[in-house]
Amino acid sequence: MQMVKSKSKVAIIGTGFVGASAAFTMALQQTANELVLIDVFKEKSIGEAMDINHGLPFMGQMSLYAGDYSDIKDCDVIVVTAGANRKPGETRLDLAKKNVLIAKELTQNIMKHYNHGVILVVSNPVDIITYMVQKWSGLPVGKVISSGTVLDSIRFRYLLSEKLNVDAKNVHGYIIGEHGDSQLPLWSGTHIAGKNINEYFNDPKSNLREEDKAIIAEGVKTAGATIIKNKGATYYGIAVAVNTIVETLLKNQNTIRTVGTVINGMYGIDDVVISLPSIVNSEGVQEVLQLNLTPEEEDALRFSANQVKSVLNEVKN
Ligand code: 2OP
Repeated sequence: MQMVKSKSKVAIIGTGFVGASAAFTMALQQTANELVLIDVFKEKSIGEAMDINHGLPFMGQMSLYAGDYSDIKDCDVIVVTAGANRKPGETRLDLAKKNVLIAKELTQNIMKHYNHGVILVVSNPVDIITYMVQKWSGLPVGKVISSGTVLDSIRFRYLLSEKLNVDAKNVHGYIIGEHGDSQLPLWSGTHIAGKNINEYFNDPKSNLREEDKAIIAEGVKTAGATIIKNKGATYYGIAVAVNTIVETLLKNQNTIRTVGTVINGMYGIDDVVISLPSIVNSEGVQEVLQLNLTPEEEDALRFSANQVKSVLNEVKN
């Protein structure tokens, strides 16, 4: 049986909606022994730590406190959620430029105290920020990972499970590419009990119709924006996704997750962060799986990588 290390330490940098919700999820799930919250607005992290700590008698014991960058020492996982949200009228590129600046300072602060561990970047645009943090940190590629399309992949499974009336745990499928508009569902690798999803689309007994493919893909892609329109921000879904990735890292699970890392030499894609099903353990991304994509999927994946790269080129200049 795989056990959590006898002592596991996690830091969350940024205690806005996403960071605070991730901390709360980790407390509920007792994911780490020690959880430090770091924020430029110290009061915010102090308040969040107090609020969550009051639930511990009913959740379980852990050391959860507001700290500073010196607490990065000995962390097994460092979760980065700090960054601005997209303001009305602001482009994705504007946001990228702003959050890259925040990420640069934050990476320098992390590396002053870093001794081991995996950096998990969640701040948007996540593919861009992860690429820059990996370069600035000087850490091996697999040690700096993004939450990538882990959230999109569970949104995908949820939508399919609703349609098929099958437990989402038994719906296997991934969203790959950018955590953004150019992402794509890996239909060729989506299955239920080993039966490829395409068989359901053609089965008169099933609820799924061929046109549902586009509807589901669009539903996943626009989910974040729809939630933002309705309630101003997304945080519960991403919090659970982050908690699950942290658990995979701490428990050395070798679980396949669609996190993002710098991809080099796969499908003709080089030097850009996108998400692909990857084996994740305590060292970070152990291996990005080489899949048998259809020619259409491969083209769409390359297109997605190029989309990310064009933003990256603008941000780097
Ligand atoms: C989400 O997909 C906006 O990245 C955020 O929920």
